Amino acid sequence: MTTVGIDAVEIWTGKLKLDLPETFAPAQGDDPEKYTKGLGLEASSFPDTYEDIVTMGANAAKRLMDRKGLVPDDIGRIDVATESAFDNSKPVSTYVAGCLEQVYDGDFHHANKGERKFACVSGTQSIDDAYNWIAAGRSRGRAALVIATDTALYARDSSGEATQGAGAVAMLIDEEPDLVALSHEQGYGSADETDFLKPQQQFPSVDGKRSMQVYLARMREALQDFEGQDTTHPDDFAYVPFHTPFPGMVRKAGLLGYRRIVRNTDLESEIAEEIGRQPREEAYEDREAYEEAIQTHMDELKQTDQYRSWYDATIEPTLSISRQVGNWYTGSVHVARVSALQAAAEAGRGLSGERLLVASYGSGAQAEIHAETVQDGWKEEIEALTIDEQLRRRYDLDFEEYEHVHDAHNHDLDTEIEAFTQPSGEFVHAGWGRMNERTYEYVE
Ligand code: HMG
Repeated sequence: MTTVGIDAVEIWTGKLKLDLPETFAPAQGDDPEKYTKGLGLEASSFPDTYEDIVTMGANAAKRLMDRKGLVPDDIGRIDVATESAFDNSKPVSTYVAGCLEQVYDGDFHHANKGERKFACVSGTQSIDDAYNWIAAGRSRGRAALVIATDTALYARDSSGEATQGAGAVAMLIDEEPDLVALSHEQGYGSADETDFLKPQQQFPSVDGKRSMQVYLARMREALQDFEGQDTTHPDDFAYVPFHTPFPGMVRKAGLLGYRRIVRNTDLESEIAEEIGRQPREEAYEDREAYEEAIQTHMDELKQTDQYRSWYDATIEPTLSISRQVGNWYTGSVHVARVSALQAAAEAGRGLSGERLLVASYGSGAQAEIHAETVQDGWKEEIEALTIDEQLRRRYDLDFEEYEHVHDAHNHDLDTEIEAFTQPSGEFVHAGWGRMNERTYEYVE
């Protein structure tokens, strides 16, 4: 079988910015370092009044199609992953296709469209669906468009408010990809959990601290499942992009992952000379004593040169965009992959043939871990992105403006405000149709 994977990627950020240390922290009466050092966030991206999951997704997709010289006939499948959908029946992918049909000759009438839901992990699940469709020989030579798009807004004054974000990632899944090839091996950690959910409501109900424990527990399970199929030595992977609700979460997940993957390796022996071998459960009388010993070991492991240099090289580069945009839910892990590849391109690092270990997660809850191999065209693909410029051009909200724009996006309020930016060369939410559907138009 030929290789299948991600051929190209495009990112579209919401056009507004909330500066967390400068604007949010003082208004909340918080120490700015809670955000910059604790959560690891500098800013959140927000949608302007004319932006939503459809405009951001369609704008990312258009940019991707233009750059790759694609027309609608080249696409056999459009899957949108989101947890911010506004319709329980009509999928977001139909709105996105409708937008794109306004600007391209031809249509997507023969493309299979759908919408995937499983909190933040559904972007990765949609890539899987596309992979399987191509690998099964059902694509007729066409590629799949996977779009992860979310407005990750939380209720005002709730614990998650500092981790908000909005943006879309469009990915082209195809044979002989230019960016990364996917493999068959996957590890899953999945359980019925109620730590973060949106039962027919716009803003999530969240048990924040528990959600972090569930993230780590499911990640551990997924890694264990993956280890049964593939090698996981720390030197095997150039980067490990995690789902990034905020960088502080990945700091915890990175340490947990490292402890597991060094176990029974040459590195564990090296580290043991300094802090002793990892506690093994069978050596302890009860679970509590074992967990205490693990905690002490983790605190020491975090300080070792081996862990710190692995973290700096393998994890830290995955976090740079996330620090500036917050949580994009379904898009977050895909933004982390882009961050890492961008860092490699900027450092002039040769990456072709190297592997990434990609760790996705969605509340509710499921973690998925798989490996990808970087392809020869990766650098050209990554250097074509304009994300740095998009981030620089965001409108910097003051606190009162932030309050207004949050209200304007709140489905339960009827707040109308002027846009902060001027749309140009993009799709916008233009109004409402006769059946209460959202309508969109392309602004030259
Ligand atoms: P919080 O209570 O606002 O923050 O909630 P905190 O008091 O726990 O502080 C956060 C960190 O900052 C802590 O670090 C503090 O010590 C530190 P830690 O101890 O954990 O390493 N800190 C400081 N550091 C330096 N200087 C200071 C300072 N003050 C405090 N002055 C919480 C944090 C994550 C709970 C909240 O933001 C929240 O509820 N977020 C939403 C839920 C979430 O993101 N969960 C993550 C895991 S679940 C997930 O990833 C799925 C998700 O993406 C949804 C989906 O799948 O659909 C959310």
